Amino acid sequence: MLEKIQQLKAEIASLEAKTPQEVEALRIKYLSKKGAVSALMADFRNVPADQKKTVGMEINALKNLATEKINALKAATESADELDESLDLSRSASPVALGTRHPLMLVRDEIVSIFSRLGFTVAEGPEVEDDWHVFSSLNFAADHPARDMQDTFFIQRNPDVLLRTHTSSVQSRVMEHTQPPIRIVCPGRVYRNEAISARAHCFFHQVEALYVDKNVSFADLKQTLLYFAREMFGPDTSIRLRPSYFPFTEPSAEMDISCNLCGGKGCGFCKHTGWVEILGCGMVDPNVLDACGIDSKEYTGFALGMGVERIANLKYRVNDLRLFSENDKRFLEEFTHAH
Ligand code: DAH
Repeated sequence: MLEKIQQLKAEIASLEAKTPQEVEALRIKYLSKKGAVSALMADFRNVPADQKKTVGMEINALKNLATEKINALKAATESADELDESLDLSRSASPVALGTRHPLMLVRDEIVSIFSRLGFTVAEGPEVEDDWHVFSSLNFAADHPARDMQDTFFIQRNPDVLLRTHTSSVQSRVMEHTQPPIRIVCPGRVYRNEAISARAHCFFHQVEALYVDKNVSFADLKQTLLYFAREMFGPDTSIRLRPSYFPFTEPSAEMDISCNLCGGKGCGFCKHTGWVEILGCGMVDPNVLDACGIDSKEYTGFALGMGVERIANLKYRVNDLRLFSENDKRFLEEFTHAH
């Protein structure tokens, strides 16, 4: 009997099968009720009592071996069965579509990074604001048209709660709780009550910068502007300042850069002037400093503010504002490799 068991062990160890059907036939041959292992068990009662222990253990070992072997063959033939021969396993995987950074955020980050190289740090404020921070503290007269519902989205009147129309509100928030030196750059979204078209939108983005300290002069402003323009649009860029008016700066100016399309020679883009407007700026009005608790006899400052969409238009020639908020993948994917 022991001999028979050894023989079966050897036979089972060398079993092979190519298909699940062949495996099933082997299972019936060795492990079914009428199979070889059961036959041995049936003979077991004829084994002399003193050999029962050894033979019993051998039969069990044989049964385990057969079960393991057949299970292994089953697994191997089944997985081979699942393999679709038309699959090319050496082919590389399909590319994963990564998202892209939004062009406005690319431009915003570039503006912020230029100012941070001059020592400006980022400050942020709320988009839902009060009249004081958006208008009154910034020297807007009581009857200024920006305070009108036609220009500003009001959430509530008396006391007024509104969507900020510019990031200049962050200036007054920071000045209220910080004494100079103050050197901040304030990126953020702003809202105006405009009909949506290629040139106007009811929300857009601005970056504001503010520098307040002793002896800050217009020359500091001008040099900062020149540095910014050249970092943003290239070392050959020239700037010019035109007198302007903002309630919160005195004197105020608007800055043009030499048209970065034609290099200043004049083209359709710059309406043949050679210049394009990019931002507003000026020396912080002493009334604003005083309103925010900074002594205007001791300190002076400059401020500037620009539209991110405007800069993006100049840099990437996106001249329909609506593209920035439509989330058309074809448009967004054009900026995959921009930085
Ligand atoms: N707040 C102005 C606007 O919304 C932009 C601006 C102009 C900001 C001049 C300034 C500045 O800080 O000095 O159009």
